[in-house]
Amino acid sequence: MTGIDTSTALYGVFGDPVAHSLSPVMHNSAFRHLGENGVYLAFRVTDIPSAVVAIRALNLSGISVTIPHKVSILPLLDDVTPLARKIGAVNTVINRDGKLTGDNTDCRGAVRALLDATPVSRKRVAVLGAGGAARAIGYGLMEEGAAVTLVNRTIPRGEELAGEMRADFCPLEDFSGGHDILVNTTSAGMTPYTDAMPVSSGLLDPDMVVMDIVYNPLETRLLAEARRRGCITVDGVAMFVYQGAIQFEMWTGRQAPLDVMRTAVLKALEQK
Ligand code: ATR
Repeated sequence: MTGIDTSTALYGVFGDPVAHSLSPVMHNSAFRHLGENGVYLAFRVTDIPSAVVAIRALNLSGISVTIPHKVSILPLLDDVTPLARKIGAVNTVINRDGKLTGDNTDCRGAVRALLDATPVSRKRVAVLGAGGAARAIGYGLMEEGAAVTLVNRTIPRGEELAGEMRADFCPLEDFSGGHDILVNTTSAGMTPYTDAMPVSSGLLDPDMVVMDIVYNPLETRLLAEARRRGCITVDGVAMFVYQGAIQFEMWTGRQAPLDVMRTAVLKALEQK
């Protein structure tokens, strides 16, 4: 953020709730660092069709989309990338000369966070959970050539998603490990349930790379146990920053300052 003037580009996040979103802190740190004339705000949106009309009417430059609008926004846009369509969820809107395109950077963000720690192609990956995050991350990993097994507590829900994705499925109660990579997409371990673990620590073997998308706390019990056992771990802030960095690059055409963004997010988390 430099001085706000008539050419300041306006960005934001549409969601409900958005009061705890770390996206404004992250994107504004990047604008400030690069001297980019942009501002990013949080909009608590209940009426998503009207909010999309507002993007057009006010010529907003780019929007992040979060719960509960990631799916319902699809038909309101002019175009949706094949990846976002396949995932069935949009977390990013790009406004190019009034044409609104929906994309999904959660998927590529998760893959980039993992690729910093390990190659993914041909690896056996267990993805815990069967919600929207499991879907985005599972597709991303499959596109990179990983062999994905979805592991879920509720069997019909897990089987349904695995069938749609053409991934393997394993009920959580039968899960016995044996994978190269484990990715937790469930909320187990998130504040205030910080004692919870999505799988028992006995299943974590030292050769495993363990990633958690939960970032509150930054080191979940799963990641702490994995680290103690000698696993390489990837925290939830890594994925959050990468999904934001990919948005930033699409919106501004400039390389995102990853370290600045991560530092801003970590500082904001410490103050929470
Ligand atoms: P999102 O769309 O954000 O990924 P979601 O749709 O609420 O979130 O999905 C949450 C996933 O986490 C579900 O797969 C859920 O399992 P169930 O299908 O059995 O409900 C899983 N989950 C949440 N809390 C869990 C826990 N304590 N242990 C195991 N799985 C859990």
